[in-house]
Amino acid sequence: MAVYSIWNNKGGVGKSYLTFQIACEYARTNRDQKVLVIDMCPQANSSSMILGGMINGENALNAISSITPRMTIAGYIRERIASPYHNPGIGGRYPIQVATTNPNVPGNLYLVVGDEELELLTSRVSNATLPGPDDAWAKVHMWIRDIIYDISDSWNIDNLTVFIDCNPSFGIYTELALSASDRIIIPFSADGSSKRAVRAVLALLYGNARLPGAERSEYDRKSERYKLRVPRIYCYVGNRLTQANFGSARAFRTVVTEIGEEIYSTWRVTPGNFHIHPSGSPSPATKKTFREMFQFEVVDANSASVVSGALGIPIVSLTAGSHIVAGRSITVNQTQLDRQQPNICELVSTIE
Ligand SMILES: Nc1ncnc2c1ncn2[C@@H]1O[C@H](COP(=O)(O)OP(=O)(O)OP(=O)(O)O)[C@@H](O)[C@H]1O
Ligand SMILES: [Mg+2]
Repeated sequence: MAVYSIWNNKGGVGKSYLTFQIACEYARTNRDQKVLVIDMCPQANSSSMILGGMINGENALNAISSITPRMTIAGYIRERIASPYHNPGIGGRYPIQVATTNPNVPGNLYLVVGDEELELLTSRVSNATLPGPDDAWAKVHMWIRDIIYDISDSWNIDNLTVFIDCNPSFGIYTELALSASDRIIIPFSADGSSKRAVRAVLALLYGNARLPGAERSEYDRKSERYKLRVPRIYCYVGNRLTQANFGSARAFRTVVTEIGEEIYSTWRVTPGNFHIHPSGSPSPATKKTFREMFQFEVVDANSASVVSGALGIPIVSLTAGSHIVAGRSITVNQTQLDRQQPNICELVSTIE
């Protein structure tokens, strides 16, 4: 079992887009496995793409959310609010086989559907961490781990691969996702504030203080106290790096290099926070081998990515030519596909 969170507390860096592309490609290339996406973001962007995009995906989301009880992540969270410290073992009911709704995705891809209702439940989840048994915080932080085990038990398998799309904020749902994950994929974009975001993620997860005397996050302190797992960094994905409007190629490269240096310096100080892969590989000894293991770049695919998300067709299966999106014809060029398809294939080939 491998559980990946896709998270950066910076918004709009491609968490949901990459969750969609990575999960679909991983399912396509690992047909003998079941692949599960859990959408922990109330915006439900990855669910919308996975379920078929702007029209079909949104309609499916509305249909699923209008059934009572809701068979979405919010439905599960409601059940756990009612039974916070004892796992009722009902998680196996929640995943849906996506291909029954969106035939463009592989049949082995499953989804616990995102739901805007999560927002309404936030304070009730946070409150559940307070009273109750001594380890109330830890028990609540196991909820997502519980649903994953419920699902793998109900399928009677142990080689499940899970991708969790997170909300940008370091709120309770992100904490629950992280406590369920053993690996984290951190997308970032090529702007000045991404360097700060990269540091902020490390401070929140591992207590690497950004400023002298800075307080540790509650998540970091309590994960240590209750011996909960904290995911290790699987890779950083520089996403859409070419999209930023830099004045010159040199300025652009300077920012990307700066962020790369920041990540590398983290490795030098705390290599234990990184997940070595493929398993059995030696720890990287040089900056070059470090980059090969932990740093990826996914280019901007322009209108190809818009069509991919809007129609719920994974970029790797998208074809060049004109596509109808909301009644309008949009042309996808082969050159756009030729740029991003190999990125996604290569990134997914490193996921184990
Ligand atoms: N490599 C890419 N090429 C082209 N467009 C992309 C790429 N990655 C992401 N996008 C687009 O950028 C926008 C932001 O991406 P996305 O919604 O995945 O970010 P996010 O990190 O999930 O945002 P949030 O923090 O709000 O959850 C979306 O419109 C998405 O389709
Ligand atoms: Mg998102």
